[in-house]
Amino acid sequence: MSITNFPKIIYGTAWKQDATADLVVKAVLQGYRAVDTACQPKHYREDLVGEALETLQTKHGIARDEIFLQTKFTSLDGQDRSKPLPYQPSASITTQVQQSFQTSLRNLRTARINALLLHGPLRTAQKTLEAWNAIVALKKENRVDLVGVSNVYDPRLLTYLTEGAGGVKPDIVQNRWYEGNDWDRDVVAYCLKEGIHYESFWTLTGSPALFNHPSIVKIAESRSCTPAQAIFRIAQQIGITPLAGSKNEKHMKDGLLAEHIDLNGLDDGNITEFVGPTAQA
Ligand SMILES: NC(=O)c1ccc[n+]([C@@H]2O[C@H](COP(=O)([O-])OP(=O)(O)OC[C@H]3O[C@@H](n4cnc5c(N)ncnc54)[C@H](OP(=O)(O)O)[C@@H]3O)[C@@H](O)[C@H]2O)c1
Repeated sequence: MSITNFPKIIYGTAWKQDATADLVVKAVLQGYRAVDTACQPKHYREDLVGEALETLQTKHGIARDEIFLQTKFTSLDGQDRSKPLPYQPSASITTQVQQSFQTSLRNLRTARINALLLHGPLRTAQKTLEAWNAIVALKKENRVDLVGVSNVYDPRLLTYLTEGAGGVKPDIVQNRWYEGNDWDRDVVAYCLKEGIHYESFWTLTGSPALFNHPSIVKIAESRSCTPAQAIFRIAQQIGITPLAGSKNEKHMKDGLLAEHIDLNGLDDGNITEFVGPTAQA
């Protein structure tokens, strides 16, 4: 897959436990061509994502390189210490990132990962920068195509990381996008300006009231789509790639079809007034 052709929607694999492999196979057979995971056994079965990729290749003829594969380095604070850790906890942060990456390659049964994200800031800006520089080094060594960060809600931290890595900015930011953080307006605007891909989570669950918002109801009625599809489409229209982690095959399909919903010609003004920067695409 060309990385210039960034996915419009990404299948998320958190909280699927033993069903992870089966659900990833179903999602890809439905048409998803991008999968998000993390080297964090607390919430993800990265090894079962790897099993799914192998099943897709051997049983369904879908090659590994047809799928945009994204994983994350999770620092110790985000790990469950009662489960096997993907790296030596006593190692330096740089070594932890390298070891986590090796664990991901093994789990995912692949020689190449398309995107590696820092799952969240560490306890200090300096430690966060050390982890970021270790991730950037993997990109410079051509081991990953894209690098990014998650759970960063202050654009100043994005600038700090970029400057601290000699000008290498994140290719991707993956954040909560919901009413509770005012749609992460500052970071979304920063990403749109800097050409950084913004991926959203909590897109559906974070703002339950949105399902009944008059603009969403109107779009759903006029476009014969579901409110969930309308929300995904608005995100895409702004330039956001939503993560969709449905366990339901009908919902999986709905998510995929969202990008084909035509929002042109709506007569209710600016449909994005309640979710952030004006539509870009
Ligand atoms: N970086 C981070 O810290 C972080 C944090 C959280 C999540 N993530 C990533 O984001 C992914 C998505 O997580 P999420 O928190 O946004 O929630 P989600 O796992 O996508 O699930 C949201 C809920 O929405 C429902 N749903 C999904 N698609 C739907 C549709 N088309 N119509 C109606 N209902 C639908 C699901 O129910 P059904 O299963 O019944 O459809 C589920 O109850 C995760 O799997 C993970 O990859 C990352």
